[in-house]
Amino acid sequence: MPGAVLLVVATGAALIVAFLLLFCIVAPLTSPKPLALSGAHVMVTGGSSGIGKSIAIECFKQGAFITLIARNESRLLEAKKEIEKFSVNDKQVVHFISVDISKDCAHVAKVLKQAQEKLGPVDMLVNCAGTSVNGKFEDIDGSKFEQLMAVNYLGSVYPTHAVITTMKERRMGRIVFVSSQAGQIGVFGYSAYSATKFALRGLAEALQMEVKPYNIYITVAYPPDTDTPGYAEESQTKLLETKLISEASSICHPDHVARIIVKDAIQGKFFSSVGADGHMLAILTSGMSPVSSIAEALEGVIFMGFFRFISLYFIASFDSIVRRCMVQKEKSEKTD
Ligand SMILES: NC(=O)c1ccc[n+]([C@@H]2O[C@H](COP(=O)([O-])OP(=O)(O)OC[C@H]3O[C@@H](n4cnc5c(N)ncnc54)[C@H](OP(=O)(O)O)[C@@H]3O)[C@@H](O)[C@H]2O)c1
Repeated sequence: MPGAVLLVVATGAALIVAFLLLFCIVAPLTSPKPLALSGAHVMVTGGSSGIGKSIAIECFKQGAFITLIARNESRLLEAKKEIEKFSVNDKQVVHFISVDISKDCAHVAKVLKQAQEKLGPVDMLVNCAGTSVNGKFEDIDGSKFEQLMAVNYLGSVYPTHAVITTMKERRMGRIVFVSSQAGQIGVFGYSAYSATKFALRGLAEALQMEVKPYNIYITVAYPPDTDTPGYAEESQTKLLETKLISEASSICHPDHVARIIVKDAIQGKFFSSVGADGHMLAILTSGMSPVSSIAEALEGVIFMGFFRFISLYFIASFDSIVRRCMVQKEKSEKTD
């Protein structure tokens, strides 16, 4: 009996010491002062449509000045007019630039500099422009892999490159990379897309380590399926396997996704996720990524193993979907 009591006391003491140690390690890593968006210059790539447009509206509602970036001028103009309806003061401006952010780093830098001359230095850059391709690896044309990497990855590198030096000089700023849940787990049909979204995570982690001493905070957002023009277009050619796997989570409204991304970016959170499944994925895939608060660190330590256990169920069910589809296809090929 005394032995059992001793064991309980020793375990309790060990847990307290472990908690205190964790607290000491994590305390210096806690969140920064939230960024006030009123009067701030927010630049949103992909701001003429879908999630990017909703992010611009959310920031505008909070008093920000906005620069939208995309290629199609008439859609940019339409988005500008739509966003302007949400102004909270008569000084607010929505400016737009038509440029392909995937093509030429020097040209992107030049046009972004012009935008900063108009509305002042960028306080928050949201890299949201992106596109996707769905198909089996062997059916995706080689050039598509390059095109996707150019838009989704380099299209985030170039604008970031254009604003980072000024942010460092000013010792302030926020940079958001809009990845995807397909940037946390590789999904059937997304061999080209997933890779580009995983790449953003590596970029974000390395960059966060470089710029944190300058009070610049990076957020990687992992939206689930979201009802946007881009999503509607992609859905037309989506593989059956991808559709069935995607059914594991529901489709979100872009305004809902945008509110969460903006809130997390303002607070300087490294991960931005939507819904319970998004939250689980964020913990599960956190690895050695930066920690934004003590609560977040503790949550990871406590739930990581449990969530890994749950993920085994999903891995098995996704495998079974893929196998069922294959059997069905082989059967129908034989009958044809
Ligand atoms: N919708 C979803 O289910 C979902 C889920 C997870 C992650 N995401 C990610 O969220 C982001 C936004 O997705 P969305 O569905 O809202 O897309 P969307 O409705 O198709 O809008 C894409 C935006 O990016 C711009 N764009 C595309 N290529 C560009 C380029 N080369 N240069 C400049 N601008 C470019 C488009 O304008 P122009 O065509 O005029 O250039 C448009 O403004 C993407 O990065 C996407 O991968 C979306």
